[in-house]
Amino acid sequence: MIKIDEHVRLKHYNTFGIDATARYFCQITNEDQFKSLLQTDLYRNEKVLILGGGSNILFTRDFDGLVIKTDIKGIHIVHESDGIVNIKAMSGEMWHELVIHCVNHQWGGIQNLSLIPGTVGAAPIQNIGAYGVEVKEVVKEITGIDRLTGDEKTFQNKECEFGYRESIFKHKLKDLFFVSSVTLTLTKKNHPINTNYGAIKDTLKEMNITEPTLKSISDAVIHIRKSKLPDPIHVGNAGSFFKNPTISYLHYQSLLKIFSNIPGYHSVNQEVKVPAGWLIEQCGWKGKRLNDIGVHAQQALVIVNYGNGNGNEILELAMKIISSVKEKFNIVLTPEVNII
Ligand code: EPU
Repeated sequence: MIKIDEHVRLKHYNTFGIDATARYFCQITNEDQFKSLLQTDLYRNEKVLILGGGSNILFTRDFDGLVIKTDIKGIHIVHESDGIVNIKAMSGEMWHELVIHCVNHQWGGIQNLSLIPGTVGAAPIQNIGAYGVEVKEVVKEITGIDRLTGDEKTFQNKECEFGYRESIFKHKLKDLFFVSSVTLTLTKKNHPINTNYGAIKDTLKEMNITEPTLKSISDAVIHIRKSKLPDPIHVGNAGSFFKNPTISYLHYQSLLKIFSNIPGYHSVNQEVKVPAGWLIEQCGWKGKRLNDIGVHAQQALVIVNYGNGNGNEILELAMKIISSVKEKFNIVLTPEVNII
């Protein structure tokens, strides 16, 4: 039997530190527990929210249903050859701990994704990415449970429909699939070294490193993230609050005439990705504080809770940011964070 608690405070289960309450709450440590939960009246009759590290969620109200916190642990090798290794990590492992484990074993591929908060299970759902690497580049397959039938199912990389902060699990399979493990393909030699992202290059230079290793890249990323992004232990936040928007090349050209220094990264289909942090900063929000919430002073893409801010105040601030960016640049920002 799984223990189900009632009226549980979620403040310590979300990195924004929002003091919402779950009507019902349980923690699972293996897949069978999830399967047996599926059979219960509680699961069938209540709204259900699956919670990983709570690092990409904003509660604007109490959750009037069942919150299932995944705590399924385990990391092991499923296949190994001369050059590569397949690592299966269970969904409740912390992503950063997996990265460190791999770096320590000299397995390459995820070193640029150091210090990203959250769990392994959540990583493929929003295809986490940072410093020129996305998790989709190393995902071999995702295994989990069909929430309607209770059947185990495996999705190969190609079937996950990965995109920028997107996957099938956020769309077609939203609320229909429980990710229980992620299998990665990592290198044992000839590692893919990606240091093109400006800040990494500069940091490695400062560290006097000319031949970067998995460890030195991971250290550089940790250093950059610590200097730019607030640590949720001290200041509540959920990393980037918005996605970087993509606009048409024509729109970008017209903006360039007015804002000659607007950054833009060309992507496919005549589209340009613009850093939302830059747009928000131009609208004067960077470092702004309203009561107990605000916009981070080192990275305008991050909304922070200084202590006792509530979810609605944060949502209101996000809406104000969206409308000022819309007014100035005719660009509509979309939240990256799940708003409940
Ligand atoms: N910028 C500003 N002002 C700001 C912030 C950024 O002008 O306040 C400009 C910078 O000057 C730079 C550009 O925006 O030219 C990009 O900034 P940065 O390298 O900080 O990255 P980002 O695009 O703002 C994305 C991810 C981050 C990830 C970094 C590094 C999204 C939504 N965010 O941010 O991911 O760490 O790249 O790769 O794609 C997260 O998802 O929670 C997250 C932190």
